[in-house]
Amino acid sequence: MNFTADRLLLFGATGDLAQRMLLPSLCALEADGLLNPDLKIIGTARSDLDDAGFRNFAREALEKFMPDDRRGSVAQFLNRLSYQPLDATTLDGFNDLAEKVGEPKDGLAIFLSTAPSLFKPTIEGLQHSGLAGENVRIGLEKPLGTDLETSCEINDAVAAAFPEDRTFRIDHYLGKETVQNLLALRFANIMFEPLWNAAHIDHVQITVAETVGLEGRVAFYDDAGAIRDMVQNHMLQLLALVAMEPPSNFDATAIRDEKVKVLRALRHVEDSETVTGQYRSGAINGDAVPGYDDELGKDSDTETFVAIKAHVDNWRWKGVPFYLRTGKRLPRRVTEIVVQFRCVPHSIFADKGAKMTPNRLVIGIQPEENVSFTLMAKQPGLDREGIRLREVPLDIAMPDAFIGQHRRIAYERLLLDLIEGDQTLFVRRDEVEAQWEWVDAIRATWSAQGMEPKTYTAGSWGPSAAIALAERDGVTWNE
Ligand code: BG6
Repeated sequence: MNFTADRLLLFGATGDLAQRMLLPSLCALEADGLLNPDLKIIGTARSDLDDAGFRNFAREALEKFMPDDRRGSVAQFLNRLSYQPLDATTLDGFNDLAEKVGEPKDGLAIFLSTAPSLFKPTIEGLQHSGLAGENVRIGLEKPLGTDLETSCEINDAVAAAFPEDRTFRIDHYLGKETVQNLLALRFANIMFEPLWNAAHIDHVQITVAETVGLEGRVAFYDDAGAIRDMVQNHMLQLLALVAMEPPSNFDATAIRDEKVKVLRALRHVEDSETVTGQYRSGAINGDAVPGYDDELGKDSDTETFVAIKAHVDNWRWKGVPFYLRTGKRLPRRVTEIVVQFRCVPHSIFADKGAKMTPNRLVIGIQPEENVSFTLMAKQPGLDREGIRLREVPLDIAMPDAFIGQHRRIAYERLLLDLIEGDQTLFVRRDEVEAQWEWVDAIRATWSAQGMEPKTYTAGSWGPSAAIALAERDGVTWNE
């Protein structure tokens, strides 16, 4: 059913995500006049607050986390907020919550950003109190389970109350402008698609490097590790966008149909094709940082780094490795995709002494949003001693290309799409399950082999084995 919600109910409204992302994103949408004038936002969580208390909480969060260039309309935004405390583990409080939400004129959008253990009781409570009708849609924040089995349990519980077309699974990477730009780059330009295949591409690298460590998320992170925290969702979504066939239009079904085909075509990974690591004390940007065990306060064999050589088994990508790596406490924060093209089939410059370097496309997702394509060019000169060719970059810095347009928080787009009911940038159940299936198989291999993470110094690019993983194939990570 198509409707623009005039009620937004936020579960986990006093949590970390709400403070850092959800409230600032909603307030930024307010500042740009993008929120439905009738929209009321109701927060709920365990904390015993009243409306005024929640508005104060939100004001403080906005002061702390709102980007400087997006401040404005705060008072108007705070006026939309109200709050109802709730213990979601029992049905008791849900009727009061429903009363607080009131009767929406057009519809209700719910956003669940709570511990996964609360998903099932919350859905039951919503059903019990009449908050799961046809004019209600639900957004679910990760983690959606810890493996395929638990993810299916969550998905089944949600499906008992919300059909797939009213279920919005969030992967905040899909809300990033530069990630969406991948689709524009691939499908709005004639020059890339004819080359986008095994005949012309040697390999692809996807790096998501972070400088942060545990950030106090002790219990969550130690149970998840890098593969479940970053690869199962964000990195596989990036891979799917790079590898998918052209969809016939920009529509939720068409795009998600193509992504899921890629995810299902991922080959089972051998243990020799993965490397895991855990950081030890070191320095980031000149500041000393403790090791993972010290931050955690106990020994652990959770991986904070993972590198994987993946393959997509289909015609387009036959024999093209996708090298993925992600880790905490790496030397700099960078998310980028590198598409390494093959050499030209024959160099007419070879007997003039010129060396050729194959073209390379680097798509910077963050912090720099840029696209850089390295081309070979002739070095100026009279060439008496041979022709010299050199790589020159064709650089496009997105902020320069679109001056005056501000950078949006990924959740702005996702929250607005949830309110308005556009599922294109949300992950469908079959995608999540294909992602888990692949990741579960890797984890099963690790445990069958008794694989333990190798150590790396905080501030380095991970264990040396990760470098060897690529170098064995003559590939160097882009750094
Ligand atoms: C989250 C992970 O999903 O993504 C975090 O749980 C990680 O561990 C974060 O730090 C990275 O997001 P971004 O947008 O900062 O790249």
